[in-house]
Amino acid sequence: MPTPLQASLATLDTPAALVDLPRMQHNIERMQARMNSLSKRFRPHVKTTKCTPIVRAQLAAGAQGITVSTLKEAEQFFADGVTDILYAVGMAQHRLPQALALRRKGCELKIITDSVASAGVIAEFGRMHEEAFEVWIEIDTDGHRSGIKPEEAALLEVGHALLAGGMRLGGVLTHAGSSYELDTPEALAAMAEQERAGCVRAAERLRAAGLPCPVVSVGSTPTALSAQQLDGVTEVRAGVYVLFDLVMKNIGVCAAPEIALSVLTTVIGHQADKGWAIVDAGWMAMSRDRGTQKQKRDYGYGQACSVDGQVLEGYVLSGANQEHGILSREGTPDTDIAARLPVGTQLRILPNHACATGAQFPEYHALSHDGTLTTWRRLHGW
Ligand SMILES: Cc1ncc(COP(=O)(O)O)c(C=O)c1O
Repeated sequence: MPTPLQASLATLDTPAALVDLPRMQHNIERMQARMNSLSKRFRPHVKTTKCTPIVRAQLAAGAQGITVSTLKEAEQFFADGVTDILYAVGMAQHRLPQALALRRKGCELKIITDSVASAGVIAEFGRMHEEAFEVWIEIDTDGHRSGIKPEEAALLEVGHALLAGGMRLGGVLTHAGSSYELDTPEALAAMAEQERAGCVRAAERLRAAGLPCPVVSVGSTPTALSAQQLDGVTEVRAGVYVLFDLVMKNIGVCAAPEIALSVLTTVIGHQADKGWAIVDAGWMAMSRDRGTQKQKRDYGYGQACSVDGQVLEGYVLSGANQEHGILSREGTPDTDIAARLPVGTQLRILPNHACATGAQFPEYHALSHDGTLTTWRRLHGW
C-alpha cells in the first residue's frame, strides 16, 4: 500500500525536479534569522531558482530586494512586483537599452562595473538618454573572478568616471566565490572576513576620496553562513542556500536533510553483474555539473535517495549519458540491485549543484509535507 507521498509522486512523469517545501522554508528561515541576528539586510540571489513563488517566500521571510544574473530575470521579477533589483553581472553596452527600459518603467535597477572603460560606456549612454543609472563597483576580494582589488588605483578612477559622467555611485559589492574551495569552519570564517574586510576597505577608500558609497554588499552562501561579524557591511547576498546541494554539504554549510532539491527518477533496467541500476535521469536532468569531483566526497552525478527522500547511503549516480543514469554502490558492487531496486522503482537523486540542475527543467514540482504537489514554472534563457 503506497503512502500518500508515494501515491502523489507516482503521478509524475520522470525525470522531474522536486522542491521539498518544508526543507526550502527551513533554509529560508535559517538564513534570514542569521541575517537578522547580524542586523544586516539580505538580498537573495534568485538565479538559483528563477521561480516566482520561491522568491515570494524569500521576500515574505524578510529579504529586501533581490539579486539577478540576467536582465530577463529582472524583467520577470519586476513584473511580479519586485522593484529593488541588483543586476550583478558586469554591464555590457548592448544591454544598456534593456536596463534603461526597466528603469523607465520604475524599476530601481542597480547595475555594476569594474573598469573605467565600462564606466565610461555606461555614463555616455546614460547622458545620451538623460538617465542617471545607479552603478555599484565590483570588488575582487579573492582573485576568483572579476572586480577591482580594494587597493587598486582603478577603484577611484571608476568612481570619478561615474560621477563625472552624471551617474549615481550606489556602493560596492563583492562575491568570494573561492569559498567553494574550502571545507573547514575556520577557513570559511577566514574567507568571510577577507570578503568583508576587502569590500569595506574599498568603500572607505572611495569615501576618503570624497566619493559616495552608501552600500557595502558581500556574499556567497558559504561566507554568509560563516561570517563571525560583518562590521561595515550593509547587506549580504546568497543564492544556493535556498535549496542547498551536495557541494554545499561537502563544504560543510548544510546537512543532507536540508537539501531541498532532488530529481525524481525511475529505474528502467539493470546490469546486475556490474551492480548497476539504470535510471531515466542522465546528465540532461542532473546537468553536467561535477562540482563534488574535487571535494572531499565525490557523489558522481548525485546521491541516490528512496522516493521518500531517505538517503541510500553509498548509492550514487556514478555515470550519466544524456537520458541514462548509472546508479551503483560505492566500493563493492551490489549484485542484488535488481531485487533491491526493481524496474519501475521511483527514486530521488540529490544534485551536486542546485542552480545547474534546476536550470535543466522548465518547472519545479513543489512538494508539501502531506504529499501535495504544485507545479511552479521557472524562467529560462536570457
Ligand atoms: C555576484 C554574486 N552574488 C551572490 C552570489 C550567490 O552565491 P551563492 O550561490 O554561493 O549563495 C553569486 C553566485 O554566483 C554571485 O555571482
